Amino acid sequence: MNFELTEEHIAVRDAAREFANTELLPGVIERDEHQRFPTEQVKKMGELGFLGMMVDPKYGGGGMDSVSYVLAMEEISKIDASASVCMSVNNSLVCWGIEKFGNEEQKQKYLKPLATGEKIGAFCLSEPEAGSDATSQQTTAEDKGDHYLLNGTKNWITNGSTASIYLVIAQTDREKGHRGINCLIVERGMDGFVVGKKEDKLGIRGSDTHSLMFTDVKVPKENRIGEDGFGFKFAMSTLNGGRIGIASQALGIASGAYELALAYSKERKAFGKPISQHQAIQFKLADMATEIEAARLLCLQAASLKDQKKDFAKASAMAKLYASKVAMDVTVEAVQVHGGYGFVKEYHVERLMRDAKITQIYEGTSEIQKIVISRELLK
Ligand code: CAA
Repeated sequence: MNFELTEEHIAVRDAAREFANTELLPGVIERDEHQRFPTEQVKKMGELGFLGMMVDPKYGGGGMDSVSYVLAMEEISKIDASASVCMSVNNSLVCWGIEKFGNEEQKQKYLKPLATGEKIGAFCLSEPEAGSDATSQQTTAEDKGDHYLLNGTKNWITNGSTASIYLVIAQTDREKGHRGINCLIVERGMDGFVVGKKEDKLGIRGSDTHSLMFTDVKVPKENRIGEDGFGFKFAMSTLNGGRIGIASQALGIASGAYELALAYSKERKAFGKPISQHQAIQFKLADMATEIEAARLLCLQAASLKDQKKDFAKASAMAKLYASKVAMDVTVEAVQVHGGYGFVKEYHVERLMRDAKITQIYEGTSEIQKIVISRELLK
């Protein structure tokens, strides 16, 4: 067992750290306050290769492994989780889904612009009545011969208004249950496709989360990913990888908060000495650092299994379950270490605490991760 990062891994991590500190940190508080998407910054992320990290270079991607992706996601998420959720969805749901299951025409047409960040992608599974219970899709894709007629509403879609390529999961044949579901590639601008209201959120306020409406949208048959009825399996398989991204996001939120708390504890004096010299604070720092290290190892293990082309469904669910809990616990403690300053915006930790919560909800709640893990255990 080798826990050492390679020189390439360290270079990717350092590049992501540098980018986050120079490009994302300035303005992150204002973007959160005004719910402003980091448009310019995401464009630069594309130019630097952060939006298609694992995609084969022949499709314009970085050809990197999943371990590099985890390292970059952690660094970006330490500073701006709104930017990192855009990165996560584009990399591990949309690009990976098309690269793994799409045909050559779909890769040429859609994967290439997504991998370079020229276009942004969105993954559309959740509905007003179908969140955790993902088989209960109400959106329909009626088979009309050479095309599907798409009708329905999707909710809480990350990159909702920024994206121009959408992977939409919809029911074609209700009688077939999950085997009657398809995934269609929908382009922005198709007639009958409207981007709905933007959500006003507790955290990741810089990311653009929208509802989407589809009314008699004609989607060509060639835009279906995989065989007829493969859509649910597509969504589940893709989410296994997506969970590595969100676990790494949670890890980054936690480690960002911890680093701020550690630095603050050395500066802030109380009762005649830095608060880091008080055991009450030392115990908090020790717990935070230990939990973060464990979360990091789970994320890297899941990524390493994926890179080795081994089954990683259980490992990615465990990483997400644990890292998202650590993100909540550590950010709450980081606010506590900061005392009153932790409760005001300029110290960043209150934002990280708000951002942490969504990591226990999206790409499957913590309860869903436990279902995925226990099913694997009981197989
Ligand atoms: N990996 C691969 N295949 C899987 C799978 C997994 N993790 N989980 C289930 N499947 C397959 C099963 O093998 C089965 O296929 P077969 O019949 O061919 O064997 C099929 O899918 C149906 O499985 P189940 O009968 O187990 O399905 P279920 O209805 O009991 O649901 C569930 C399983 C795990 C609860 C699933 O519904 C689920 O994961 N729900 C959560 C959905 C979710 O994560 N939503 C997040 C939205 S996306 C998002 O948040 C993105 C964003 O914007 C940030």
